[in-house]
Amino acid sequence: MQTITGIAELRAALNDARRASRTIGLVPTMGAFHEGHLSLMRRAKAENDLAVVTLFVNPTQFNDSDDFDRYPRDPARDAQLAEAEGVDFLFTPTPDAMYPNGFDTVVVVRALSERLEGASRPGHFAGVSTVVAKLLNLAGSDRAYFGEKDWQQLQIVKALARDLDIPTEIIGLPTLREPDGLALSSRNVRLAPDQRRAALALSSALDNAQSIADTGVQDASQIAAGMRRTIEAQPLARIDYAVVVHPETLQEVATIENGAVALVAAAFGPVRLIDNRLLRASAPPDKKAPALEVPVYPE
Ligand code: PAJ
Repeated sequence: MQTITGIAELRAALNDARRASRTIGLVPTMGAFHEGHLSLMRRAKAENDLAVVTLFVNPTQFNDSDDFDRYPRDPARDAQLAEAEGVDFLFTPTPDAMYPNGFDTVVVVRALSERLEGASRPGHFAGVSTVVAKLLNLAGSDRAYFGEKDWQQLQIVKALARDLDIPTEIIGLPTLREPDGLALSSRNVRLAPDQRRAALALSSALDNAQSIADTGVQDASQIAAGMRRTIEAQPLARIDYAVVVHPETLQEVATIENGAVALVAAAFGPVRLIDNRLLRASAPPDKKAPALEVPVYPE
């Protein structure tokens, strides 16, 4: 694996690869790797000739400077893990290289960035979409891999690639979890033991949402209320939102009949976590196939 810090150097290395008709898979990250990150790298390597991982704790997407300062960083361990996955290039630019003096452009995917994470973290998605547009443009990769864990981010990245005619296929991959259900996140290491136990309220709420849907309930607000109750029952959780929305537009839906995603966010002590789950609708009891009538034969 080759570690590259310069933009021109990365461009040159990838131009050579493209000239040799080698396909490129890109995995943008902020480091502090866990199995979720590694699953993206594995897929990028399996589906392309070259896997390129970017490691950049992007300052412009942190609306809270404390969160930025405390964001876990372990570049030496990250490099080892990426190398073990067969990653070809690890791109680790400096903030000055990404945002030199005079940098004056912002990429905003408007409607998708307004709600949920966007409402709670002003400016967050402008930072994400600007840096992702830069990275996609820089790498010119055939494919780029993102986790469904950050569902809203994934929809925003798909929209920006579509709207800006970026010819990279955006691929979303499933959320990896701890055995007890907690979604893997770089921020989990900052949870104290009691907060770690409490954080299970998020995945439990999502499981609960599917259990409610399994009984035939299709009313989105009823399912959202069930999730909210699960999270609010956990005293250490400070709930931000628990919603059931359209999987692509992220707008409210009345019913989950045609597909919906449940999204939750809550803080546990100093750590704010998010999670989500696609909901499968089940036919309401009154619409289920009527029980077969047992024919009665005359004796
Ligand atoms: P980061 O939080 O480091 O995540 C990098 C990628 O890993 C994202 O696509 C994220 O969705 C994915 N990921 C995180 N947790 C996961 C899990 N439990 N299972 C599967 N995939 C998971 O997301 C960012 O960085 C940044 O916003 C970035 C896109 C790099 C722009 O700065």
